[in-house]
Amino acid sequence: MRVGIIGCGYVGLTTGVCLAELGHRVVCVDNDEEKIKKLLSGTLPIYEPGLDKLIKKNKNKIKFSTNIKDAVVNNEIIFICVGTPSNPDGSPDLSYVENVAREIAKYLDSYKIIVEKSTVPVETADWIKKTIERYKKNNVEFDVVSNPEFLREGTAVHDFLYPDRIVIGVESEKAKKSMLRLYQKIKSPKIVVDTKSAELIKHASNSFLATKISFINAVANICELSGADVEKVALGMGLDKRIGKDFLKAGIGYGGSCFPKDVNAFIWISEKLGYDFSLLKEVKKINERQRELFIKKIEDTLWTLKDKTIGILGLSFKPNTDDIREAPSIYIIKSLKEKGAKIKAYDPKAMVKMKQVFPDITYCDNPYEVAKNSDCVVILTEWSEFRKLDLKKIKNLLNQPIIIDGRNIFEPQKMTKLGFVYKCIGRK
Ligand code: UGA
Repeated sequence: MRVGIIGCGYVGLTTGVCLAELGHRVVCVDNDEEKIKKLLSGTLPIYEPGLDKLIKKNKNKIKFSTNIKDAVVNNEIIFICVGTPSNPDGSPDLSYVENVAREIAKYLDSYKIIVEKSTVPVETADWIKKTIERYKKNNVEFDVVSNPEFLREGTAVHDFLYPDRIVIGVESEKAKKSMLRLYQKIKSPKIVVDTKSAELIKHASNSFLATKISFINAVANICELSGADVEKVALGMGLDKRIGKDFLKAGIGYGGSCFPKDVNAFIWISEKLGYDFSLLKEVKKINERQRELFIKKIEDTLWTLKDKTIGILGLSFKPNTDDIREAPSIYIIKSLKEKGAKIKAYDPKAMVKMKQVFPDITYCDNPYEVAKNSDCVVILTEWSEFRKLDLKKIKNLLNQPIIIDGRNIFEPQKMTKLGFVYKCIGRK
């Protein structure tokens, strides 16, 4: 099938490249000329494992352009994959989606399916439809489909090709048939529903996962206060199939470009529709408090922070990505700096991006350089290379053998045996 993709971010690029892998012909469009230049020269503008290989393998089936017309004309299915960032009041900024809908309307020359892939509040498909109706120049038919993505950064290619489910929200039999044909090669369950339900499945799924994380973080705090161990509690809870073991990892809270934004947007749309989703407001509050408690933990261990050197391991919002959007590290580093601490940091992938946020902290080539002459090491992202650290070497390099671990990557007993003052989340 012939597919146009509008927006070459994590979602759009992964969708485009993976659809080419499934055998379709794809035109990927972005209005960022630098990004398209990079893609045309074979360089990926983002770090996503496996994507580079797939792009090379399918290069004959993928075209890049800065012109939306190229994504519309001659293509049967057009994906909208542009950003929907948060406005200050928590509502999603849908102006990019609207602009794209108007542009698509301009070039509509035959029946097309316009797919909303970006995460949007319920009823957005209706708005896209109204907008295209209003601005289209020819009397051609079209359908708007909601096909939310469930890709995780770092495993996006795998998540696309082997998803738990594919959700397709349609209002016509014709669109349903085409969408099922598009995903024919993927063997996962396909749920075909109305567009509004599909839109809600996305917001409800992300908000539920965020709730799970805040819930276990709240339990971790109770564990600390009572002397229990959150890892054991999570294990015992997770073996109940109704609860499930995933997303029960206590830490410094969720970040990234999705959960914080989507929880805000779900609270906002619920309110707009007339429902006070107070549970989600609390989920958000617990998440924010989790970082504050972590900073307090650092202060409780080091006492005053003025002129102390704090070595940070991990800057990205989670491992296997260079993405630092809404990363807890940004909030934590900012606060430590305000309290007078000097920061040294290392991350396997995210330092280039973090240099734009904090140009004035010291970036190191490896974890050992971070530990050298620091007053403590603080772990903010659970990169696997940190699990394999030579801890004896780290201990010798530190001014004091102190590790404060926001991701629970080590066993407390083992760390104590090695002579560390080891603080983590929800366990002693
Ligand atoms: C998330 C969802 O998992 C995807 O299904 C969805 O498609 C995507 O948002 C989106 O809406 O685009 P992502 O933001 O890439 O994907 O990251 P996750 O792997 O879900 O992690 C989110 C955050 O939760 C991270 O900060 C992670 O550290 C944190 N987390 C996750 C925990 O603190 N504990 C856990 O047990 C799991």
